[in-house]
Amino acid sequence: TEPLRIALAGLGTVGAGVIRLIQTNGELVTRRAGRPIIITAVSARDRAKDRKVDLAPYEWQDDMTAMAHRDDVDVVVELVGGSDGPALTLARAAIASGKALVTANKAMIAHHGLELAGMAEQGGVALKFEAAVAGGIPVVKGLREGAAANAIERLYGILNGTCNYILSTMEDTGADFADVLKEAQAMGFAEADPTFDIDGIDAGHKLAIMASLAFGTVLDFQNVEATGIRRILAADIEQAESLGYVIRLLGMASVEPGGSDGPARLFQRVHPYLVPRDHPLAHVDGATNAVVAEGDFSGRLLFQGAGAGDGPTASAVVADLIDIARGDTGAPFSIPVDLLDAVQPAQTGHRIGK
Ligand code: HSE
Repeated sequence: TEPLRIALAGLGTVGAGVIRLIQTNGELVTRRAGRPIIITAVSARDRAKDRKVDLAPYEWQDDMTAMAHRDDVDVVVELVGGSDGPALTLARAAIASGKALVTANKAMIAHHGLELAGMAEQGGVALKFEAAVAGGIPVVKGLREGAAANAIERLYGILNGTCNYILSTMEDTGADFADVLKEAQAMGFAEADPTFDIDGIDAGHKLAIMASLAFGTVLDFQNVEATGIRRILAADIEQAESLGYVIRLLGMASVEPGGSDGPARLFQRVHPYLVPRDHPLAHVDGATNAVVAEGDFSGRLLFQGAGAGDGPTASAVVADLIDIARGDTGAPFSIPVDLLDAVQPAQTGHRIGK
């Protein structure tokens, strides 16, 4: 059988994780995929850096975007990061030249997902981004496939590991925000620019992507309202506790139905919420993510696991590669055309991008 040939762009934590996974679980992956998944070429900004993985079997390509035009590549895996710049240039070039694209880049999908999805659908190639939302948790597949037969009534969750680590550690130790943030950065799951984490922007990226999948609405990151956790004090956490709550940064999304007073509205908000101590999310501690989807027939679904890190995120990337190897080129967002203009943003406060 023909192998599925991959070009891998970006060899940071996740890229190195993908290589390690394919080197470790290659046989199992081949069995599940029905054919070998092989890496043809790799590329990253700095060739000299020690990444603690063996890159010798792969061809190094300095010009990242040129990988999109190689005849011996079927899929480009974009793990460069950043909403624009080289990642977006590569993504567009790959899809335009008929390659499937797998990405872990939530910022790029949140900003440009509709454009990329349109290009991919037109070209009949796959665009997959399981790793962009909640790391190792198969929540994109869970919503697109597992919950596909449901009207989703509400979707919410803990979408940023750094914030959840900070809040749950402040809760346990009474430590101050700034000290715990430094710890989180040292542990390596905070974004390069930690304001993306603590101001709720990273959670907003993931929320917008999931809301589009869950409700069949247009991906609308610009209208996510986000308030982060920088102003939360140890005292707030203590007071909440005395009332029977914990504080968690949640992303929350729902569609408020339309009627005589106006069209349906999409509510998307990232905010510190008071979570009752007997709610499952109150027990999600550390750098974990958890997503709740309330389906009309499935009832409450809870997806929980590691939302970042090399192993979990690589697991999601390779799962997408296995889908593609099996022949899945399905529409990235299943947006029913009649809903495209029917849902308006619900604006109640300040928005990201304003
Ligand atoms: N910085 C993110 C987090 C990593 O802390 O959850 C994955 O988006």
